[in-house]
Amino acid sequence: MDGMKKFYQMTIEERRETIREESGLSAQALAALCGVNGLSEETADRMIENVIGRYCLPIGIARNFIINGKPYLIPMVIEEPSVVAAASNGARIAAAGGGFTAEADAPRMIGQLQILNIPDPELAKAALETKKDDLLKLAAESCPRLIERGGGPVNLEFRVLNETAAGPMLILHLTMDVRDVMGANLIDTALEAIAPKVEAISGGTVRLRILSNLADQRLARARCSVPVSALAFKNYDGETVRDRMLEAAAFAEADPYRAVTHNKGIMNGIDAVALATGNDWRAVEAGAHGWAGMEHTETEPMLPRSRHRGAESSGAAIHPLSHWTVDPENGNLNGFIELPLAVGIAGGATHVHPGAAAALELMAVQSAQELAGVIASVGLAQNLAALKALSTEGIQRGHMSLHAKQMAVAAGAQGEAADRIAARMVRENRVSASYAAELAAEINKETLHA
Ligand code: MEV
Repeated sequence: MDGMKKFYQMTIEERRETIREESGLSAQALAALCGVNGLSEETADRMIENVIGRYCLPIGIARNFIINGKPYLIPMVIEEPSVVAAASNGARIAAAGGGFTAEADAPRMIGQLQILNIPDPELAKAALETKKDDLLKLAAESCPRLIERGGGPVNLEFRVLNETAAGPMLILHLTMDVRDVMGANLIDTALEAIAPKVEAISGGTVRLRILSNLADQRLARARCSVPVSALAFKNYDGETVRDRMLEAAAFAEADPYRAVTHNKGIMNGIDAVALATGNDWRAVEAGAHGWAGMEHTETEPMLPRSRHRGAESSGAAIHPLSHWTVDPENGNLNGFIELPLAVGIAGGATHVHPGAAAALELMAVQSAQELAGVIASVGLAQNLAALKALSTEGIQRGHMSLHAKQMAVAAGAQGEAADRIAARMVRENRVSASYAAELAAEINKETLHA
């Protein structure tokens, strides 16, 4: 293999070989990761209903990630061009400042019981409070193996919702430490186990018994501190790039229309890793956007003291998930992200899908908390790269060349021919499916006559 080639310049085979060498993955795990010998039809048939086959998406590896001093190879499953390149680029820039530091809360999930038909919710709440220990014990009986692994029910809380369209209701929150799984099944089982006793104590009717995807007790955080020298490129000096990125971040702090897009870019990275590792990315999405809509207690010193509600523009309160500031000590660009990340390294599809199991093996993550910290870092890297590109030369330049390549492939071109077509479309500023088809036909004709 040509040692001078950059990873993105290699053939798919060369990239696989590089990943094998760097990670020490077995041939079997690598084949599963790459989809060569991945999810079987029989397994797929056991995963969901009405299966008619398996559906492929590209998997790419984001590089340059250093998180808490450890290098990581990041598997990303995504249909959108530029995302993997941007993550690698953001990670490379962050690496100039030592990479990311990341952490995650204990894996505590919340489950909710909706209690209806209680004449006096406050009285029912008081009655349930006195039986808290009994209820927690009952919940614990539903998950003996989780208890063995050091997890289990942690707390019960009650919230009275006096004014709902269906009248007053009492809501019970059961918090459980679910250790290394996402936790939906554990929570739902425990809720169903305690529901009859809750009815008996409260005198009400328990209706919904379901986990909450607003996993605000299971937050992950990542930080980076980028020296301005690492932001300089082409004709842009580092200070200019940093200051423009801060202006872009301020836009997201002040305006929900921008904040949602800012967060979408972050979720590009987060979802891609969640998907690669067999995690429930809709749960992650729902939690992240819910969190972005909440006013938080700001314990994090790097957060701006006052968050703008954006009320002038839309009435909605959506906050960016990441925050950027200047380090007063050295002028570095400091990034911080915090969001709920209900992800697991066991359970669900994480080991049923051989590709997901291999993706987790590739990252060599030892716990759900470690995975959450890695995923938060990927989100921050994605945001770093997006803000840098958007506030300088724009994203279309890089994006269009990747998009052009996709179109060339869709027009039937392969390998070098696809690269040639893509390069020509970008050079002529004519990136379209019809032009790609025209150029592919031209190349086919040349080949036939050669
Ligand atoms: C595109 O998928 C994501 C971006 O729009 C994110 C952003 O605007 O920050 C580039």
